[in-house]
Amino acid sequence: MSNITLHTLTSLKQKGSKFSVLTAYDATFAHLISSVGVEMILVGDSLGMVLQGHDSTLPVTLDEMAYHTAAVARGNQGAMIMADLPFMSYATPEQCMQSAGKLMQAGAQVIKLEGGAWLAESISLLADRGVPVCAHLGLTPQAVNRLGGYRVQGKDSASAQQMIEDARLLEQAGASLLLLECVPSLLAAEITRNADVPVIGIGAGPDTDAQVLVMHDMLGITPGRKPRFTRNFMDGASSIEDAFRRYDTAVKQGSFPNQDESF
Ligand code: KIV
Ligand code: NA
Repeated sequence: MSNITLHTLTSLKQKGSKFSVLTAYDATFAHLISSVGVEMILVGDSLGMVLQGHDSTLPVTLDEMAYHTAAVARGNQGAMIMADLPFMSYATPEQCMQSAGKLMQAGAQVIKLEGGAWLAESISLLADRGVPVCAHLGLTPQAVNRLGGYRVQGKDSASAQQMIEDARLLEQAGASLLLLECVPSLLAAEITRNADVPVIGIGAGPDTDAQVLVMHDMLGITPGRKPRFTRNFMDGASSIEDAFRRYDTAVKQGSFPNQDESF
């Protein structure tokens, strides 16, 4: 598969074609996921939970993110690689530049940050320096203690309006992608319509430009309760590779997520 670029993703949005994203944290899975045609790999700080066994993403360090990003980059076959800046590694614009530089040099091609309007300056500085940014809105797991748990965001009209404004502001600041986690489908659809940049969703309904899932969730091997917005793609699959293929196809055909998998 040829190399995916931001241009590829933007043209897919303009054509109304969906693209798929999965997390990976190592070379072998990055190889498999990119080989089946998934456009983007997210080296998520979800690795703190699914690899390290923590009960949140807060303990993950920048060095750990760089280590996993480098491993993913070595296995990758042409997908675009996005990496998360972990908790408190982008608290100020200056710290953000340094942290992002480290992940880009480890092999990331897009940097993802969690938050709203307060990120505008950092996003603008990164964009000016050639670093594409994805702004993660809605349920932002690094803020779980402030949010009071992992809950759907933007349910009342004030917080929905705030999210719409944050999305617009961060796109204007220079964000190349948006990601919405656990927001009502109608709100995600509106933000996707308003945005010129591609919008990736998780628990955000069927109308975003792309979908992302944590690999362990969609393979059905994450311990504990299955979140409503995931689907076990190993059900009926003949191999892990087949499960990745079925996910990619379901996203591109628009059959994932369905209504029961949305809010
Ligand atoms: O860390 C992660 O895997 C993420 C996705 C859930 C969007 O940020
Ligand atoms: Na994350």
